[in-house]
Amino acid sequence: MPRFDDLFAAELDRRESLGLRRTTVPVVPAGRGGVVRDGRPLLNFSSNDYLGLARHPLLAERAAAYGARLGTGAGASRLVCGTLEAHAAIEARVARLKGHEAAMLLASGWQANASVLGTLLRFAGPDALLFADELNHSSLVHGARLGGVKPVLFRHNQAGHLAELLAERAGLPGRRLIVTESVFSIDGDRADIAALGALAAEHDAFLYIDEAHATGVLGARGMGLTAGVAGVDLAMGTFSKALGSFGAYVAGSRTLIDFLQNTCAGFIYTTAPPPPVLGAIDAALDLVPGMDGERALLAAHADAVREGFARIGIDTAGSTTQIVPALVGDAAAALALADALRARGVLAVAIRPPTVPAATSRIRFALSAAHDAAAIEKLVDEMRACWPLRRMAA
Ligand SMILES: Cc1ncc(COP(=O)(O)O)c(C=O)c1O
Repeated sequence: MPRFDDLFAAELDRRESLGLRRTTVPVVPAGRGGVVRDGRPLLNFSSNDYLGLARHPLLAERAAAYGARLGTGAGASRLVCGTLEAHAAIEARVARLKGHEAAMLLASGWQANASVLGTLLRFAGPDALLFADELNHSSLVHGARLGGVKPVLFRHNQAGHLAELLAERAGLPGRRLIVTESVFSIDGDRADIAALGALAAEHDAFLYIDEAHATGVLGARGMGLTAGVAGVDLAMGTFSKALGSFGAYVAGSRTLIDFLQNTCAGFIYTTAPPPPVLGAIDAALDLVPGMDGERALLAAHADAVREGFARIGIDTAGSTTQIVPALVGDAAAALALADALRARGVLAVAIRPPTVPAATSRIRFALSAAHDAAAIEKLVDEMRACWPLRRMAA
C-alpha cells in the first residue's frame, strides 16, 4: 500500500460514515445560469458568478487579448520581475473604486486572507487581540492561526457582543484587530459596517473587512459595503465571484500596502497573477460600476426566493442578499434534499460541517443576474416539492 494510505483511507471512511465525505464533480457551463452535469442540463444555484460575468464576451475577449499581447504567465513573482504595468493599473483602479489610497493584488481570496491577516498579527506582536465573527470564512481562520493568535470570537453578526468583549478587555495591553465579512458567505446576511467602524474608533482597533461576496453586488457602483464608509483600515475582496474571473485584492493606506509588499509571504513568494486574468479583471472593472440594473434584478430574485421559501416554511437564517440558505440541520437530510433537487433539474449543493457548525447543514442557494424569472420560479416550485423529502433521510 502506498505510504500513509492507511491513514488517509481511515479519515475518508470516518467522513463517509458521518455523511461528510466530499468529491469533485465536473460540470460544463451551459446557457445562462446553467451547467451540464453527468450529461444533464441543470439550473445552477451554487455558483458565485452573481452578475453572470464569468461568461461575458468582453471578459473573454480581453483575457485573450492580454494573453496574446503579454503572454499566458507573468513568469516571476511581483518583486522579482513579474510586475506588469497591467498589475499596477488594476491596483490603482481598485484603490480609487474602493476609496482607499492603495491596493494590492493577490493570487486568490483564500491566500489573501490567510497571508495578509497572518502577517498583520505577526507584526502586531504576541499580546495582539483579534476579535473575529464566529462564522468567519476558513481563510480568515487560517490567517489567525498563521499569526499565532487565538481569536476572541463574537457571536455571529452581533456588534453588541463585540462591544462587550472589547470593553471587558479594555485594560489589557496589546493592539486590537477586528475581522469580519461584510456579506457572510454561508448565511447571506450583512455586517453593520458603520457600527463596527464606531467600535474600532472607540477601541483604536484595526478594522479588517472581507468583501468577497459584496464586491460587485452591493454598495454604490457595486463597490461593496465598505466603499465610502469611514474607519475601515483594510478592505479585502475577490475577483473570483461577482467579477467573474480570479484573484483578490486588499485596499488600505499607502503605508499598509507598502508594508504588505515587504512582509506578506503570500504576495512575495508566489508568481504574479497572469495576463489573461488581468485582462478579465480589467474588463470586469469597466462593466461593474454600470451594472445597477443587474444588481436590482439580483436583489429582486433574492426577495422572490425568500418570500417563496417563507411560504413553504423554510428558515433562510438572516439572509438579506443574493445568498439564500435553506436551513436543514442534519447533514444526511441536506444531502438527500440536494439529490432530490438535482433529479428535478436544480443544482444546489448541501453545505455541511466543517464548513458550517454541527447541526446547521443547509442548502446554500446563490442567485445570479444571469437567472431569469422562470429559473427563480422553478427553484421555488422544486423546493416546495422536495422540502418534505429531507425528513426521510434524517
Ligand atoms: C468570505 C470569503 N472570503 C474569501 C474567500 C476566498 O476567495 P477565493 O475563492 O478567491 O479564494 C471566499 C470564497 O469562498 C469567501 O467566501
